[in-house]
Amino acid sequence: MVTGNDKTPITVAPEIQPAVVPERKRERADPCTMIVFGASGDLTRRKLFPALYSLAAANLLDEGFAVLGVARESMTDEEYRALMRSELLKSDGFKSLDERAWSWLASRTWYASADFVDPATFPAIASKLAAVDGAPPGEANHLFYLAIPPSVFPPTVTNLAASGLLQRTASAADRPWSRIVVEKPFGRSLDTALELNALLLDRVGEHQVYRIDHYLGKESVQNILVFRFANSIFEPLWNRQYISHVQITAAESLGVETRGKYYEEAGVVRDMFQNHLLQLLSLAAMEPPIAIEADAVRDEKVKVLRSIRPIVADGEAAAVRAQYVASSSRPDGVVGYRSERGVEPQSVTPTFAAVRITIDNWRWKGVPFFLRSGKRMKRRKSEIVVQFKSPPHMIFGSAGNARVPPGRLTMRVQPREGIALRFQVKTPGTVHELTPGFETTPVEMDFCYEEAFAEAPNPAYETLLLDTMLGDATLFTRSDEVEMAWRVMDPLIQLWSNEPAGGMPTYEAGSWGPREADELITRELPGAKWL
Ligand code: BG6
Repeated sequence: MVTGNDKTPITVAPEIQPAVVPERKRERADPCTMIVFGASGDLTRRKLFPALYSLAAANLLDEGFAVLGVARESMTDEEYRALMRSELLKSDGFKSLDERAWSWLASRTWYASADFVDPATFPAIASKLAAVDGAPPGEANHLFYLAIPPSVFPPTVTNLAASGLLQRTASAADRPWSRIVVEKPFGRSLDTALELNALLLDRVGEHQVYRIDHYLGKESVQNILVFRFANSIFEPLWNRQYISHVQITAAESLGVETRGKYYEEAGVVRDMFQNHLLQLLSLAAMEPPIAIEADAVRDEKVKVLRSIRPIVADGEAAAVRAQYVASSSRPDGVVGYRSERGVEPQSVTPTFAAVRITIDNWRWKGVPFFLRSGKRMKRRKSEIVVQFKSPPHMIFGSAGNARVPPGRLTMRVQPREGIALRFQVKTPGTVHELTPGFETTPVEMDFCYEEAFAEAPNPAYETLLLDTMLGDATLFTRSDEVEMAWRVMDPLIQLWSNEPAGGMPTYEAGSWGPREADELITRELPGAKWL
């Protein structure tokens, strides 16, 4: 659909509508037992179980699949199934229960109560696992999923390996396989990430470790690769000659909800920049990989991260942090960050940041990347906006070049996953003698996944879980990648933790962030703004 300034739809010629939408083919998972540590936690309830259920309903799990939940609470298998069922019914986007699929999954769902920090409880986990494995002893594939706080990753990994449950395999092709999925945040600093990688790689091979960043499971994020490298239209323009700057936004309208305690420890840079935003930046800026396979893609992403100029130089950074306060104009009951549950009344944790990034390589020399993310912003939107340069000489428009907005490509990660291209067209009508020459109007060509394919994209966790069971690590971060991402962000975290936070800007809940973030852009690009 093409829309003008007033957003009036203009019908597109039928031959450019997606005529035949090929049926999506997804491979069926290997038989395996998935062992979830943190089985009663928020992530398992809200994301993992709903994803398992959807995979079961789509017939993508093997007959030999089983799931063993492990957590401290004492519960029977039956109680655990009932808990997961009630959580499923409440989960985001849930429509109606397919009883057949649920019974299939429930009959393969088991629970063991154990304190996984205590090595003494591992024999009990091992014997329950042996009982629920769908394969003879020594032949079952095992997927260990750590849906637990980062502080208990190291003892859990140590205990898993010492108990013999998690075993090193020589290569990804070995059977039975044993894999471990580690949730973000992967460490809380460069040093802790290095330690965690060292521990994991001392016990298992890199091919066995799946470090999750759920942004990579989003269809719209994977589409960045397809859009860039399956088309020859844009790639020739994708460089410093044609692009003025790039903006990457991950704005949330929600606050910290029930996670105040975690967020106090994390803050926006650890929570969003070190992982999700740097992943978006890497995909938007990387060179074409030689193939869409794990190491080829990850090699290119690591090269981008390595090309980022240190954000902190001489004790300064082109970056802004801020914290939200209650809105003075909209008394809608939304409290400021310091009044959220689990948050210190004097907290100096930033809930918003904007950072200017320089990529020192041939493609991007001189093209600034502006990244921002925050809680309680005006609207939920995650997107990458590529702002092209204005034509070198403008022959249209009465007021000349300055008033004609340059072309712009927006890759919407969410909501309305899709891509929009804005460009100029001639404003209809005759030429007026007072304004000789044509007038121009920006219009937008808009592709939306849901409209084009008549269904919503798969939830990220569904894609990622299936990939872990298939052994496809393309959408997971490698050890050097996660370490490089910390090398980029850690100095900023250190700078801010050493600076007095008294002068930290605030922004009103429901706004687009502090004025200082706008200045980050306008200082360098007068007339430009966050989009
Ligand atoms: C998580 C962060 O990784 O991503 C959360 O810990 C954040 O704080 C979430 O809300 C955002 O994910 P999404 O998919 O809603 O953009």
